[in-house]
Amino acid sequence: MAFGSGTIWMNGSFVDWADAKIHVAAHVVHYGSSVFEGARCYKTPRGSACFQLDAHMRRLYDSARIYRMEPTIELSAMTQAVVETIRKNQLKACYIRPIVYRGYHTLGVNPFPCPIDAAILVWEWGAYLGQDALERGVDVRVASWARSAPNTFPTLAKTSANYANSQLIKMEAITEGYSEGIALDTFGYLSEGSGQNLFLVRDDTLYTPPLTAAILPGITRSSVITIAKDLGYRVREEMLPREMLYIADEAFFAGTAVEITPIRSVDKIEIGNGKRGPMTETIQRTFFGIINGEVPDRHGWLTYVYPGEPLQPVGAGSPASAKTT
Ligand SMILES: Cc1ncc(COP(=O)(O)O)c(C=O)c1O
Repeated sequence: MAFGSGTIWMNGSFVDWADAKIHVAAHVVHYGSSVFEGARCYKTPRGSACFQLDAHMRRLYDSARIYRMEPTIELSAMTQAVVETIRKNQLKACYIRPIVYRGYHTLGVNPFPCPIDAAILVWEWGAYLGQDALERGVDVRVASWARSAPNTFPTLAKTSANYANSQLIKMEAITEGYSEGIALDTFGYLSEGSGQNLFLVRDDTLYTPPLTAAILPGITRSSVITIAKDLGYRVREEMLPREMLYIADEAFFAGTAVEITPIRSVDKIEIGNGKRGPMTETIQRTFFGIINGEVPDRHGWLTYVYPGEPLQPVGAGSPASAKTT
């Protein structure tokens, strides 16, 4: 089901894509008052499985809490609704977009009178920066736009409002011939891309900015940290100066959309030798190996979608599922 067709879950009912409409006077249209998620379902050898669905749905409800939105549906029921929406659309692999938003009632800035509505969209979506990028990497620039300052727009919440900033970063990068932009925080430290977290490698250590560097707490980011530790790499979450980018041995983006995408150059300075580095490749291979069933899902990250296919994560409860970190 390509973007633009199929069935959408809206406030507990399934509606055709073409009929899934909201009013132009809905609060969200004017004030960006929504929180949302982006997750993926993969076609694995053991059946279609959502990657880290529980973590994504938990972040959705965390985001709602930060914005004083109480969804009318419980977290577990919303998670089940995601699975049912994929089944309803009979998709084997797809992108998943649950959204909780302030609907139609009044148009004052005060959002409280407006209803809390919810929807779940699913559609087929391939590699975000192109299949080639997963191997060869992308050319990026440091954005002239900073991420939001602390105590302004909370970055732990995945709210639509934050994506006004992301759009500025992305448009600037594209207009100037780059695939992506890397934003600094308001103190000048490395933060993240317009829609993905950032990792650097220097002297066999993996570095990533901490949650205090105005980043979204990415689910892929936390998966990468877990994978790297499992593989025995040193991982450091710390404030990083901009110039660490230019002297890194390797760099890559991590996110649901970009998955794990190497960064080939920043501001026209080659990273390492300008090719995907060995640690990036090993982490990428493990990440895709879990999805392809070649590496055991020892942390229980896969949620199977169709009846008759395994409902438990591969390896859950078995010795192989023991956490090593
Ligand atoms: C601003 C931003 N940072 C990071 C990420 C990566 O997060 P995740 O791995 O949960 O997709 C995203 C993707 O949603 C994002 O929009």
